[in-house]
Amino acid sequence: MKILIIGKGYLGTRCAETWKDEAILSDKVVESVEDVEKLIDEHQPDAVLNAAGVVGKPNVDWCETHQAETIEGNTILPITIARACANKNIYLLHMGTGCIFYGPKPDGTPWDEDDFANPSAVYTRAKYAADLVLSTMDNIGIARIRMPLDSRPHRANFIDKISSFAKVISVDNSLTVVEDMIDVFYQLLEKRASGIFHVTNPGSVNHKEILTWYEQYVDPSHSNEWIEEGDLLKLGLTNKKRSNNIMTSKNLPKLGIHMRPAKEAVEDAVKKYAEFKKQ
Ligand SMILES: NC(=O)c1ccc[n+]([C@@H]2O[C@H](COP(=O)([O-])OP(=O)(O)OC[C@H]3O[C@@H](n4cnc5c(N)ncnc54)[C@H](OP(=O)(O)O)[C@@H]3O)[C@@H](O)[C@H]2O)c1
Repeated sequence: MKILIIGKGYLGTRCAETWKDEAILSDKVVESVEDVEKLIDEHQPDAVLNAAGVVGKPNVDWCETHQAETIEGNTILPITIARACANKNIYLLHMGTGCIFYGPKPDGTPWDEDDFANPSAVYTRAKYAADLVLSTMDNIGIARIRMPLDSRPHRANFIDKISSFAKVISVDNSLTVVEDMIDVFYQLLEKRASGIFHVTNPGSVNHKEILTWYEQYVDPSHSNEWIEEGDLLKLGLTNKKRSNNIMTSKNLPKLGIHMRPAKEAVEDAVKKYAEFKKQ
C-alpha cells in the first residue's frame, strides 16, 4: 500500500518511520485543493493520511489567542484535503481528537462515536467542526486520538509532558498509545474504512498510575505535587479548561480491529521509553 502522509510533524513522522517504504511523508505546505491534487498526481497513493494540523506551541493554549490560524489548520485544511481526495477518488484518513469531549457523559457511560461532543476551547471546536462536515462525506475515515503516549521521547508525548509538570492532577483518562495508533491507522487505511473511529486504548488510566510506572522504570528520583483539577485554572497553569474523559469505540470492533487494554499498553510503552532513554 502506498500512503501519502500530509503533515511532517510528530505523529505523521512516527507513522512514516513505521510504514517505511509504504509511506510518502510530505512536508509541502498545502493551501488549496489544487496543491493537494498536485501531490496526489505526483505520488499516486492508494490512500492519504491527514496528519497536518495546528496544535499550538508551546501548547494548545496558544490556539485561544490565534483563532484564525487554528481554524485555518484544523477546519479549513481538512476540508480542502477532503475535497481534493474526493475529486481524485482517493480514500482519506483524517486525524481528529478525542479532546472534543469534556468530562463524563451525562448517562455515565463512555463517549462513543455516535455521541455529539461538547467542545469548549478554540482548538477543540475547530477540530470538531471538521469532524462534523467530513463525516457527511464518503470514503473518509476520522480517527480520533487522545493524549498520545509514546515509547519514544518527544515534547508532545504524554510521558514527557506529565513527567515534566511539578503539579499534576489525578484523573482517569482515555488515551492513545502511539504504537497501537499506528497499527490501527494502517488497518483503517487498508480497509478504506469510512466513518468515525475512537482510536483510544480500551479502558482508562489514572495519571497516578502513569507516574508510578515512570518512577518504577524511568526515573526513581521523580517527584511531583498532586493538585485538584480546578486548581489548574486557579493557579494559572492553563488558561482554558482541559478535556478529561473516557471514550470507547463501537466502530473498530465491528471491523475486527482491536487495541490492547489501556493499562497494559501504557505500562509497556513506559518500559520501552525507559529502554530508549538508556540507549
Ligand atoms: N499531539 C497531540 O496531542 C494530538 C492529540 C489529538 C489529536 N492530534 C491531531 O493529530 C494531528 C497531528 O498532530 P501532531 O501532534 O503530529 O502535530 P504537529 O507535530 O504540530 O504536526 C502537524 C504538522 O502539520 C503541519 N502543517 C500545518 N499546516 C499545514 C499545511 N497547511 N500544509 C501542510 N502541513 C501543515 C505542521 O507544520 P508546521 O509545524 O511547520 O506548521 C506540522 O508539521 C493533528 O491533526 C492534531 O490535531 C494530536
